[in-house]
Amino acid sequence: MKFAIIGGSGLTSLAGLENVRRQVVRTPYGDPSGPLTHGQLQGVDLMFLARHGYGHTITPHEINYRANVWALKHAGADGIVSVATVGGIRAEYGPGTLVLPDQIIDYTHGRRGTFFEGLDQPVTHIDFTWPYDDGVRGRLARAAANLGEPMALVGTYGCTQGPRLETAAEIRRLERDGCDLVGMTGMPEAALARELEVPYAALAVVANHAAGKGDSCDGISLEAIGATLDGAMARVRRILAEFVRMAANGD
Ligand code: HPA
Repeated sequence: MKFAIIGGSGLTSLAGLENVRRQVVRTPYGDPSGPLTHGQLQGVDLMFLARHGYGHTITPHEINYRANVWALKHAGADGIVSVATVGGIRAEYGPGTLVLPDQIIDYTHGRRGTFFEGLDQPVTHIDFTWPYDDGVRGRLARAAANLGEPMALVGTYGCTQGPRLETAAEIRRLERDGCDLVGMTGMPEAALARELEVPYAALAVVANHAAGKGDSCDGISLEAIGATLDGAMARVRRILAEFVRMAANGD
């Protein structure tokens, strides 16, 4: 098993990666966010891609999701773990909480969201009832449990267009819709992975209370987000290392 990790804000590289090699992949859909990084984490092969580019310059709506997912699949990824920074809507999901979302609501617009388009492509509808892969979710949950890291196992991820953060009223609407988390990059990435039949799950890291909630009643502090992410990503890196170790052993 060779897993790919797509890192979001706060995770533009994987510390501890050894025998690193970069691979530039050209795709029929244009350029991915950057070269793929291949390496070994504690002796286990994996690949890594920084979703926003290695210099964090690509905004959520400008990411070439199709090129990223296609490149990882064609470089041999047997599965993808997407690390996603989010705002917490549900009261229990405060800053620093790690969540394995199990559902998505897509509020984005104008993104290239399918490989199945163009006159040469048959009309194809994927089943997306459960957008995340059970096997990948289960192994992530076990990896966190092995390390004693608390992780919430349910959550509906509302994907907004960005790059601006939401208004308080938009967050109230997302809450009424049943969203527990809000982020900007979960879609169309998850659907594209399903189209290419690559098992995919997201590990969401709550960076802040969503707009109008908790200590974000009067605004969202970007400095506080940075501090929260620094701490949380150290935990995420340990969980990812345990995850790839388990995948390599078939655990
Ligand atoms: N909204 C959308 N995306 C985010 C947020 C948020 O509050 N925090 C981190 N990513």
